[in-house]
Amino acid sequence: MSNVLEVVAAGRLMPVVVVRDPAHAEPLGAALLAGGLRTAEVTFRTDAAAEAIRRLAQDERLVVGAGTVLTREQVDQAVAAGARYVVTPGFSVKVVEHCAQVGVPVFPGVATATEVQMALDAGLSTVKFFPAEQLGGVAMLKALTAPYGKVRFIPTGGISAANLADYLALPAVYAAGGSWMVAPDLLAAGAFDEIERLTADAVALALAAASAA
Ligand code: 3PG
Repeated sequence: MSNVLEVVAAGRLMPVVVVRDPAHAEPLGAALLAGGLRTAEVTFRTDAAAEAIRRLAQDERLVVGAGTVLTREQVDQAVAAGARYVVTPGFSVKVVEHCAQVGVPVFPGVATATEVQMALDAGLSTVKFFPAEQLGGVAMLKALTAPYGKVRFIPTGGISAANLADYLALPAVYAAGGSWMVAPDLLAAGAFDEIERLTADAVALALAAASAA
């Protein structure tokens, strides 16, 4: 667990990736590393997800996560493929309990205080806040974090270079997630230079946010 937490916390960015062609995995991993990131959340929204995780995870420098995990079976597939953490869009007791049994860290999605408390009850202290912008963005997150001093959040949904710094300025924000660095159209077009550029831009913003803190 600690290595996963360290790698994600160091970059404070979690690119959300939808891979349709497993052959994109290796150049994607190279672009992320060249841009300065060591992690990606590969979503189970395509049939290529497990194979993409398997290929990305071959590179020991990368800590690969599985996203949009909705079932226990997907947890098993993700872990077998080499996923080191699991992200879910909402809070599923079944999925969270299964992750604990299997021993893989899970960042479940929450949108309300009730769901934060479900995560606390499950022994978790880091959750995804989804969909961040649509729920009220930084103002909502600030209000939601106030009662829970020890909970860390990964806001995702509607985040881009334009508002990233506002989220990262909140001490309770562990990392910010989103698809803007690896936009699906860029990946489909094989625009790995552009993915590297957007990743490097985000890394620079995250570093600036850290030094401003
Ligand atoms: C997710 O799966 O976490 C979101 O779809 C990512 O949201 P974004 O596309 O608005 O960044």
